[in-house]
Amino acid sequence: MSDASNVAPKVAIITGASQGLGEGIADAYRACGWRIVGVSRSIAASQSDDWITVAGDVADPETAKRAVMAARDRFGRVDTLVNNAGIFIGEHFTDYTV
Ligand SMILES: NC(=O)c1ccc[n+]([C@@H]2O[C@H](COP(=O)([O-])OP(=O)(O)OC[C@H]3O[C@@H](n4cnc5c(N)ncnc54)[C@H](OP(=O)(O)O)[C@@H]3O)[C@@H](O)[C@H]2O)c1
Repeated sequence: MSDASNVAPKVAIITGASQGLGEGIADAYRACGWRIVGVSRSIAASQSDDWITVAGDVADPETAKRAVMAARDRFGRVDTLVNNAGIFIGEHFTDYTV
């Protein structure tokens, strides 16, 4: 028989989590009991047990590595990525640059 109290909380990495939609998505996940790694260039350090932050630019692959390492080291897993940080580019996807 399963016991929900023994199930490790799920973990989401959410980019663009310092404000706007990303912040709201992070709040909603936290309200559901998830642990969060929030990423943005200027995100503030967290004092919370369920929420850690990684300051960095998502255009830099090192930021993704640091976010995954932070999730693994602090929470032991990654279940979901919310790839929210971004800008609108009016080009065909195949014309995007890195
Ligand atoms: N709001 C809308 O009506 C709407 C509609 C359609 C699509 N979207 C899309 O939804 C996403 C969020 O929109 P929003 O309105 O919530 O935007 P927003 O309020 O401007 O917030 C953007 C977030 O992304 C972070 N960010 C931006 N560039 C980044 C980068 N290079 N690396 C890391 N973090 C970065 C920002 O923090 P820092 O500045 O600290 O990096 C901030 O936390 C965007 O991709 C937007 O294109 C929004």
